[in-house]
Amino acid sequence: MFENRVALITGGSAGIGFAVARKWVAAGGLAALAARTRARLDEAVAALGGGTKAAAFAIDVGDLAALEKLPAQVVSRFGRLDAVINNAGTHHRGPLIERTPAELAEMVSTNLAAPMILTWAAVPLLETGGAIVNVASLAGMVPVRNAAAYSATKAGLRAFAVAVGEELRPRGIRVATVSPGPVDTEFFGDLSKVADIVFSQPMSTPDQVAEAVLDCLRKDQREVAMPWLSGKLATLGYLAPSLSRALQPMLSRLGAKKKRAYAERKKS
Ligand SMILES: NC(=O)c1ccc[n+]([C@@H]2O[C@H](COP(=O)([O-])OP(=O)(O)OC[C@H]3O[C@@H](n4cnc5c(N)ncnc54)[C@H](OP(=O)(O)O)[C@@H]3O)[C@@H](O)[C@H]2O)c1
Repeated sequence: MFENRVALITGGSAGIGFAVARKWVAAGGLAALAARTRARLDEAVAALGGGTKAAAFAIDVGDLAALEKLPAQVVSRFGRLDAVINNAGTHHRGPLIERTPAELAEMVSTNLAAPMILTWAAVPLLETGGAIVNVASLAGMVPVRNAAAYSATKAGLRAFAVAVGEELRPRGIRVATVSPGPVDTEFFGDLSKVADIVFSQPMSTPDQVAEAVLDCLRKDQREVAMPWLSGKLATLGYLAPSLSRALQPMLSRLGAKKKRAYAERKKS
């Protein structure tokens, strides 16, 4: 069903975005990959089968003026636009007061303003039956301490997706959100900075998240939280903050143990 359909994937050169691109191209689609690092983009395009299957767009999605022009550039390269995957994201971890204003602003700009602007710029160009899928996070369902701004951007992205989805439904454009728990990618960066509790939930692979994204492109879904049980726990934790606070020490201990095991696996 994706034969010769064109998807614009931000953060498409690595991790979840690249896994989405692989599945999309394997299903017959063409992928426009957007990310900052030209060399990694070129490698990704080559791995997808070269210029007949994919194209690289070197851009920082936080450059909102450049981002506005991106959907039109994709249409001029491939002739159409069927799907947008708002996936690029950034996370400066740690207590709010230890972050710099520039780091906080970067998270808002990359994780929230960019998907809004890209949606705004893509909608007039999207084919009827087109879709927009946003990659948020469980941290946007139950805000995580030491990740206040990141959690807020992902909660905002979920809210944006629901509201704009209702606006765009009459135009035949669907909007969905995938909210994963921890995913085995380079996104963690320095593991010592990642809150232990993050590792308390089962780790997904980029392919599993990509499959959820593809599912949202195939059928009408508003939001997928994954893994399923983690999504339910996140909702419960949001609705009952005192329960969430009570469970915090136990989940952090469990997470610390799983984080050590993950670090060991990564070393070997
Ligand atoms: N991994 C997790 O545990 C996890 C959990 C929940 C949600 N998520 C969300 O999943 C999304 C993808 O994360 P991932 O795990 O796949 O990360 P990743 O493996 O680190 O890949 C990030 C991708 O985004 C690109 N990117 C980063 N900042 C960008 C910017 N300002 N402009 C353009 N491209 C940018 C990177 O390329 P360049 O660096 O070359 O730009 C790369 O292609 C993010 O929105 C993240 O918040 C991740």
